[in-house]
Amino acid sequence: MTSSIRFLMCSPHYYEVDYVINPWMEGNIHRSSLELAQEQWQGLYQIIANHADVDLVKPQPGWPDMVFTANAGLILDDQVVLSRFLHPERQGEEPFFKEWFESQGYTVHTLPAELPFEGAGDALLDREGRWLWAGYGFRTELDSHALVAQWLNIEVLSLHLMDERFYHLDTCFCPLTEGYLLYYPPAFDAYSNRLIELRVPAEKRIVVDEPDAVNFACNAVNIDRLVIMNQASDDLKRQLAAVGFEVMETPLTEFLKAGGAAKCLTLRVTEPLHPEPTGESGIVARTVTLTGHLLDSGLVNRALDLVVEGGGSFQVLKFDLGEQRQSTSSAEIRVSAPSLELMDEIMAQLIDLGAVALPDQEQDAHLVTINQAGVAPDDFYSSTIYPTEVRVQGQWVRVQNQRMDGVIVVSTSATGPAAVCKLLRDLQVGDQVIVGYDGIRSVRNAAERSRSTHQEEFSFMGSGVSSERRVELIVEQVAWELRRLRDQGGKTVVVAGPVVIHTGGGEHLSRLIREGYVQALLGGNAIAVHDIEQALLGTSLGVDMKQGTSVRGGHRHHLRAINTIRRYGSIANAVEQGVLTKGVFYECVRHNVPFSLAGSIRDDGPLPDTQMDLIAAQADYARLIEGCDMILMLSTMLHAIGVGNMTPAGVKMVCVDINPAVVTKLADRGSLESTGVVTDVGLFLSLLVKQLERLTQPHIAA
Ligand SMILES: NC(=O)c1ccc[n+]([C@@H]2O[C@H](COP(=O)([O-])OP(=O)(O)OC[C@H]3O[C@@H](n4cnc5c(N)ncnc54)[C@H](O)[C@@H]3O)[C@@H](O)[C@H]2O)c1
Repeated sequence: MTSSIRFLMCSPHYYEVDYVINPWMEGNIHRSSLELAQEQWQGLYQIIANHADVDLVKPQPGWPDMVFTANAGLILDDQVVLSRFLHPERQGEEPFFKEWFESQGYTVHTLPAELPFEGAGDALLDREGRWLWAGYGFRTELDSHALVAQWLNIEVLSLHLMDERFYHLDTCFCPLTEGYLLYYPPAFDAYSNRLIELRVPAEKRIVVDEPDAVNFACNAVNIDRLVIMNQASDDLKRQLAAVGFEVMETPLTEFLKAGGAAKCLTLRVTEPLHPEPTGESGIVARTVTLTGHLLDSGLVNRALDLVVEGGGSFQVLKFDLGEQRQSTSSAEIRVSAPSLELMDEIMAQLIDLGAVALPDQEQDAHLVTINQAGVAPDDFYSSTIYPTEVRVQGQWVRVQNQRMDGVIVVSTSATGPAAVCKLLRDLQVGDQVIVGYDGIRSVRNAAERSRSTHQEEFSFMGSGVSSERRVELIVEQVAWELRRLRDQGGKTVVVAGPVVIHTGGGEHLSRLIREGYVQALLGGNAIAVHDIEQALLGTSLGVDMKQGTSVRGGHRHHLRAINTIRRYGSIANAVEQGVLTKGVFYECVRHNVPFSLAGSIRDDGPLPDTQMDLIAAQADYARLIEGCDMILMLSTMLHAIGVGNMTPAGVKMVCVDINPAVVTKLADRGSLESTGVVTDVGLFLSLLVKQLERLTQPHIAA
């Protein structure tokens, strides 16, 4: 017997499964046998008593889970952090455990009432005493880890639990003597697994597979080289034996019905201090506010979800609900994350949703000077499509040339500070770029509000993907908007792929251009080649567009089309010379609609108009998109995605593609104004032209 080690246990006198607070309890209410439970508990008690001292706390009627003493609190030396149970079903255990700890002379730390922490069920000391592993995600709130670190003066490593079957850290994680670790990696998120791997060398990690994990093999009591558990496979026993551990099995099936086993039934009350206390937790916290139509727009739910998905946790400190339907609400949210790295990732997304720091915590954005052209510091802030403001010298400055995936460069002149989005490749030595997430906010609220006011007029402009049956409705609304923009001097840009021509949509697109609905056309080499092939030879990729059949020798037609335009030097010259007399590009030239053709590795020719220098092509696209109100993306994944990346929020985007996956990708910019239409592009264009006719000559509508 090692008398210096002591455990606390509680007889299962009142034990039974009385309620459901974890998945193990489901279907097991009143299904456990008290007699068998007592027999199994005695078995465990005897084994432990043979190797250590065991103290007992008196069981209490009405608190059946008191048998799981691991959740009484967390002990280190003469200090204990008392548990704050999440579920009311267990909160009544707290005073009894508190009384026992006080009677034994421990200093008891009590967490605030609204901060759950479930003791040694969610906090396990490294057996060498170097740090504390602490779980969160189901029962324990991340913020409690910071207090535990401070009170116990120990480094806390926070681990995010992901599988509700393993709702407490001690159900899937068991530190062993000499720095070994028995654990079930799928119970944790990727970041936590990385942290575990950083701290525990591979040769000391004993990975448990799912069958052992669900038999609670990790819920083990470790005393020196002995590991006591409910059950272990031969393979696990072999692995443990290979590194000098002896497994002792003792059946605890009645307790598994409540979601606990050997470790849950015990609390080690002798936990000596490590000689070099570190008192740290990597936890960082920030408080942000969100303002807007938080509930109607689902903004607050999205914000809280992304905090949790990003590995953090939150506390809603204040929530002021707008009283009238049109008035805005505001929420003050404290966000915690187990590391600065994760906090930065979470903050980036919260900023996109419009979260801002509290006014008294606002800071200027951090600037770093570029010392290598075209290269930013690692922690540069990467811009989004949303209108953004940055705080420079105490004042908020609107960022110009807003686009996605850029870097924000700040400059100061006599008129004050200015900020602009630049591409990485355009950075110059001496440019001041923003790093981190302080002093940055995105201006989302106006967009949220404008959606509600314009909803009736333009209701399809909610982001989403339409099914075929909604296509006609969407066409009506696009037609209405095209007409409105044309009549009010707005700007519509079309991005189109060659499928427009193959599907017979060329004549409709030509008409849109002719009638002034299109202010710029963007595409690749192919749409122009096929449009010109059709205009010159009546085929598109060798297929007769009237008959729908292949034409003899037609496979060479697109090369003949390219060759003809090359002879005249450009599409415009071919039009001027009377060679090209119809089609999409003919209409562009005739109606002074600028177009840009961006080259790709697939291109034949290319046409003289195709810009094969991609950087120049991107710049040309950006120039033509500037100031546009709506973009129609017609069946080109490549060019549509390119355009999407350089378009700021606020521009309405309609993406038409036959492949739902492409549409989802394009419509899913998180922007309110993008809509996907899954349909044949030829059909879409013909419906659109008909609808515009109806708008112009309403008598046709009947
Ligand atoms: N001869 C040439 O020079 C040549 C030929 C083909 C492509 N290209 C070049 O290759 C690059 C990529 O070409 P891309 O834009 O065609 O390809 P892409 O793969 O980027 O996009 C084609 C899209 O059209 C969709 N689509 C197919 N049939 C459809 C239909 N009936 N209705 C609606 N959507 C439909 C597809 O789902 C796909 O998303 C471009 O730069 C293009 O110019 C060159």
